[in-house]
Amino acid sequence: MITGIEDPLAADVVAGLWADPPTLPTKWLYDERGSRLFDEITRLPEYYPTRRETEILEARSAEIAAVTEASTMVELGSGTSTKTRLLLSAFAERADHEGRTFRYVPLDVSTETLESSAATLRVDFPGIDIVPVAGDFTSADLIVPPSSGPRVAVFLGGTIGNFDDEARAAFLHTIAGALDPGDYFLLGADLIKDTGRLVAAYNDKAGVTADFNRNMIEVLRTGLDTRGLYADDFDHVARWNPKRHRIEMWLRARRDVVVDIPILDRRWELAAGTEVLTEISTKFDRATLADELATAGLDVTHTWTDDAGDFLLTLARR
Ligand code: SAH
Ligand code: TRP
Repeated sequence: MITGIEDPLAADVVAGLWADPPTLPTKWLYDERGSRLFDEITRLPEYYPTRRETEILEARSAEIAAVTEASTMVELGSGTSTKTRLLLSAFAERADHEGRTFRYVPLDVSTETLESSAATLRVDFPGIDIVPVAGDFTSADLIVPPSSGPRVAVFLGGTIGNFDDEARAAFLHTIAGALDPGDYFLLGADLIKDTGRLVAAYNDKAGVTADFNRNMIEVLRTGLDTRGLYADDFDHVARWNPKRHRIEMWLRARRDVVVDIPILDRRWELAAGTEVLTEISTKFDRATLADELATAGLDVTHTWTDDAGDFLLTLARR
């Protein structure tokens, strides 16, 4: 492939690296290695969201299947679909009872993860029609395939927090537009809590999150064939921004960095101490989230938390 401005990575690099602060869309964190590292993050002792959301899904999947009566589930940013298995079991059981088929449409940018998890899901859920879609969930022409019965779009893992306020509003609007009246949206969101626990969840002792963050540099180096760009020249920084109630993940240059990108005919210079914003993870309170959903045309019908009250699962109806 000829790499140039028509290459999506190159286009994002040109738009982001010379901005103030420099930044890059977070989807570039999830190449094959990044997806593997993220999977490791979900099992870290400090990273509570996955366990909390699993706890809620264990308790509520049957209820979700009963309330929505969905015959199609589209999952945005499905990853390994690990937690989703709880929902799939509940939906499959209902569909089986009623003698109809259930369809699962996982959508993700990480093609390798998508394909390999679809393959194992087909073995474990032979009764479910599994239709993986490689794609970007931020695209405005997001399609939720038509279905004979109600559809549910699910967005788990607190990934909604990875949008800034403006992108989140646009995303909710796109989702609502892709759904028909009577369809459902199931959303997992992390709640505002003690700052120490929040920061630890994004700066673990074992350094897995740091490696995940620095993997963005590897994606750039290999994807754009850069000269002078090395992951070891960057420190992982995770900081709580109290005003915007979000964790911000940065990469801070440990020394002066000078990077040549021959295919773009550009040089990127970063002084020691300068930071690149790689990811945000916004935390919510219930009322604000319900308001934002309502603004997009999605009315909250149910909310559930884990016993500790750390994480929130919201079901909303279009
Ligand atoms: N749903 C899983 C994974 C969350 S991590 C869980 O709850 O654990 C975020 C997932 O979204 C990753 O699998 C990543 O590859 C995917 N992703 C990130 N940005 C994306 C985008 N713009 N479009 C589609 N998928 C994206
Ligand atoms: N959706 C996850 C979250 O906000 C993504 C995530 C977890 C993440 N840990 C990270 C992104 C570290 C970048 C760096 O919790």
